[in-house]
Amino acid sequence: MGDVLTTRVVGNVGIVEIDSPPVNALSTDVRSAVIEGLRIHNADDAVAAIVLLCAGRTFFAGADIAEFDNLPIRQPDFDALMAAAESSAKPVVAAIHGTALGGGLELALSCNYRVAVSSAKLGLPEVNLGILPGAGGTQRLPRLVGAGVALDMILTGKPVGAAKAAEMGLIDQVVEDGKLEEAALAFAQDVIAQGAPLPKVRDKAVAGGLDDLEAVKATHKRQFKGFKAPGHIVQAVEAAITLPFDEGLRREKDLFGELLVSRESEAQRHVFFAQRLTAKVPDIGKDVPILPIRKVGVIGAGTMGGGITMNFLQAGIPVTLVEMKQEAIDRGIATIRKNYERTAAKGRMTTDQVEQLMGLITPALSLDALADVDLVVEAVFEEISIKKDIFGKLDAICRDGAILASNTSFLDLNDIASATKRPEWVVGLHFFSPANVMPLLEVVRGAHTSKEVIGTVMKLAGTIKKTPVLAGVCHGFIANRIMEHLIVQSQQMALEGVPLRTIDKVMNDYGFAMGPIAMLDLIGLDVLVHGAEGRTLMGDFVEAGRRGQKTGKGFYDYDADRKATLSDEAAKIITDFAAYAGIKSDPDQSDEAILKRLLYPVVNEGTKCIEEGIALRASDIDVAAILGYNWPVFTGGPMFWGDTIGAKVLLAGLQELEPRYGPAFKPSALLEKLAADGGEIAKL
Ligand code: 3HC
Repeated sequence: MGDVLTTRVVGNVGIVEIDSPPVNALSTDVRSAVIEGLRIHNADDAVAAIVLLCAGRTFFAGADIAEFDNLPIRQPDFDALMAAAESSAKPVVAAIHGTALGGGLELALSCNYRVAVSSAKLGLPEVNLGILPGAGGTQRLPRLVGAGVALDMILTGKPVGAAKAAEMGLIDQVVEDGKLEEAALAFAQDVIAQGAPLPKVRDKAVAGGLDDLEAVKATHKRQFKGFKAPGHIVQAVEAAITLPFDEGLRREKDLFGELLVSRESEAQRHVFFAQRLTAKVPDIGKDVPILPIRKVGVIGAGTMGGGITMNFLQAGIPVTLVEMKQEAIDRGIATIRKNYERTAAKGRMTTDQVEQLMGLITPALSLDALADVDLVVEAVFEEISIKKDIFGKLDAICRDGAILASNTSFLDLNDIASATKRPEWVVGLHFFSPANVMPLLEVVRGAHTSKEVIGTVMKLAGTIKKTPVLAGVCHGFIANRIMEHLIVQSQQMALEGVPLRTIDKVMNDYGFAMGPIAMLDLIGLDVLVHGAEGRTLMGDFVEAGRRGQKTGKGFYDYDADRKATLSDEAAKIITDFAAYAGIKSDPDQSDEAILKRLLYPVVNEGTKCIEEGIALRASDIDVAAILGYNWPVFTGGPMFWGDTIGAKVLLAGLQELEPRYGPAFKPSALLEKLAADGGEIAKL
């Protein structure tokens, strides 16, 4: 059992302490250790009650997710673990700190009592992994907190704090942080003194009936689309209401088993680990110093610059915000304030907090104000000459050791860096719009960017609550580069006469919340047309005053509720442009053909990003697409989905499409190799 299990006796209370870093996941060894600890104290006549707790930063964070790749789950399995806790002849008190999640909370529910420190969080987040609580959680939680509340917790996967948990009846006592062991021992002593019969959650009746589930289901309706787990979760909670406990458990186990082997769950587990891998850069070890970022400068107070600024403010980092004109800075600051005030109006922030955040902004009208900042993020117009001019000036103004970052989304970072005498301090920080909301941050490593700078900004991403994905210098970096195919091909199909609604519907059916045409309207056609040469379809739209949703019309017309309807004017712009460009009409495309044409080149481009060393690994590309473009998570991202299709099938599809639709469909050498060797795309 190694060092995982420690047992000790204090007075007449036996303590089972588990120590399995980093998060005490319930691996086979940990399950064995808990069972063994309970057995030892049950066999000891000097022990009258047992406290179960964990060392390190948290109570059990759930099943060891990696073990789900090697089914069946080894013995002792979760049934054995829960039975050991529930059938203990002596009262068991779960003593919780950190997070009691998934199987961890289910274990606590199998104990007789639960105490938790006030900072603890408790939840059943299995839905995020495409599964359901499979260790009795769907049967025991409704018995403690009621069916409706339980369903809500399991469907959202959101943990609750200790105070709320106590209010709900999920735990018996909230104790002071840092005093968990002594408080749990005192609690156990009380239990012994009372000598009451052992309470078991399984013996309780479920409060609430099937009707209570309907309202909860309706609230989370959107969550069901494309995902399999939510429907199974409802069935399991229904079983808690309609079946005796043991039958309910069997039902839960069947449903859990179905989900565990589903491709959706495999995909979501892939994403779980992929998101934690992105920050790991092979040549940047612990020896690389991380520089302190105490003060930031942002150049440009437009939509992007304002959003970027908000990230730093929320992390408590003061920002000097620079604009050229007073009215521009005033407008930018007013927008930030409006955003925060809207949050406050929803009760998610106090007015004092709004003032505190706003107090961290220092407005400025000259780059000279950036002389002492640790990091500058430039977010001005996407024009190379302007950016180079700014970086040349920053080189003269900023102190030695300041990081100079550009938020460029398509321009050559090396060219920008060449305007300075310190290219090793220049890096790309590519935020996604709206920058204060979207969780992705592409960190662009230039030819000369130093390890220190990369290490520092990868860490900084965590501080501002972003997931960093490292990218090399190329047109569009990772997310925009791969997704550009979807945008270009959907326009191309529109020009061939494929109905806009059909194009959007195929992507909706695939799992995107928004189809590509609707997305163009949301981004703004004027934004997208910027920099394009010659006559373009989007240029024609902009010229006709159809700039997208913000003007009430783009590819679609929009009413006051942003509901899209088809437009004769838009249809004419499309046919006129198709005639001008000599594009042949080919409107009758099957859904399958549309899907292939839109998504196969995305996966292919992903393999090119790996081939060229632009992305570190395939799973980073999946994270970039999911977090930057809302790619449906249950597919695992484009690269993981590529394996669902299979490299061979993809290759054949691209080979068929290339002669008709051009070089965007030319298969990469890497994909050809995978198709020949039988390798997996997502493992690249
Ligand atoms: N299994 C395996 N590894 C896990 C894990 C788990 N349940 N939870 C976390 N880890 C690993 C992470 O991969 C990471 O590894 P790395 O250092 O090699 O990258 C390390 O532990 C630390 O994790 P985080 O970086 O996420 O650390 P944080 O401190 O930010 O967050 C946490 C801690 C809140 C516990 C978070 O890790 C988390 O949410 N974990 C998953 C919880 C979960 O989903 N539990 C349910 C599992 S399924 C289940 O229990 C089924 C049951 O019903 C039968």
